[in-house]
Amino acid sequence: MNYIGSKAKLLSFIETTISEFVKNKLPAKKFCDLFAGSGCVGYHFAQKGYTIISNDAEFYSYVLNYAMLQTTNLDGINERIIALNALPPIAGMMYQQYCLGSGSGRNYFSDDNGQKIDALRQGIEAYKDDETLYIYLLASLLISADKVANTASIYSAFLKNLKPLAQEKLYLQALEHIPSATAHQVYCSDANTLISTIEGDILYLDPPYNRRQYGANYHILNTIARYDSFTPKGKTGVRSYESSAYCKTTTALQALEKLIQEAKFSYIFVSYNDEGIISQEAIMKMMQKYGRYESVKIPHQRFKAYQNLKQKHSIYEYLHMLEKF
Ligand SMILES: C[S@@+](CC[C@H](N)C(=O)[O-])C[C@H]1O[C@@H](n2cnc3c(N)ncnc32)[C@H](O)[C@@H]1O
Repeated sequence: MNYIGSKAKLLSFIETTISEFVKNKLPAKKFCDLFAGSGCVGYHFAQKGYTIISNDAEFYSYVLNYAMLQTTNLDGINERIIALNALPPIAGMMYQQYCLGSGSGRNYFSDDNGQKIDALRQGIEAYKDDETLYIYLLASLLISADKVANTASIYSAFLKNLKPLAQEKLYLQALEHIPSATAHQVYCSDANTLISTIEGDILYLDPPYNRRQYGANYHILNTIARYDSFTPKGKTGVRSYESSAYCKTTTALQALEKLIQEAKFSYIFVSYNDEGIISQEAIMKMMQKYGRYESVKIPHQRFKAYQNLKQKHSIYEYLHMLEKF
């Protein structure tokens, strides 16, 4: 998934930098990914043997992280996926609100794929009593639908004409996951509310760094996951969403400081880039108050949408590190 702010390409940098800073001082290994997004960071550290606390305020992210971290054995999953893929199309809510053929004026999916999403989403409802399987199937649908969405990567707008990928037929594909025997925890909460209730060794913070609200940019994924009844608003059919304190210049630094103050973790790492709404100097000054501080930076490719894939634009990605006293 091409996720805004994804750290998928920075995983080895993050891992190496963390282990150099922490050295051998970690007996237990509880790692919290408090702004988990696509889940690649928590999943990476889970594969390295860490016990993960994962959290994100957005429901679609909770679904993805739950599926990646909590899925154990999935007997008969292939047969279930085949049966779901064989369901007849339904002209349901996704088709009615987000496809051109219904007259909605919105072009997020081809008409066939919109009706397929409706069929799959309603079919998945039959598994609601088995929470792990249900969420695993929902996550698989989110990833499969995202691959054929007619957008420039994010859902704040749709493209006028169907792009080639959006013309491909949607098939539900099983989400890749490695079954875990470890009891990870996954939350869907505001980071500043959750922080007082958790503790561990390493706290990894990757908050939004600009004004783009994830609830608006990924509203379609929340709608597929929730599949509830609401009145879509405006040209894009957005649903209502919570605004994040991390997306506002007036509140971002205070919110981050409050997290660091309250954190019951020995080590705290903050990912931020040099185009963010908080300056690196402000983060450094704030974090230095709470213990031993260092930072490193690495050049990184800026988030690219479908239409400007050819544009090359590098930014610096910082990792701010704190051993809390
Ligand atoms: C930069 S992204 C994280 C990307 C993630 N590390 C990855 O590699 O995919 C920031 C995430 O913070 C979440 N978020 C924003 N405000 C939040 C808040 N107050 N509490 C919890 N999560 C929040 C967003 O939904 C988004 O997924």
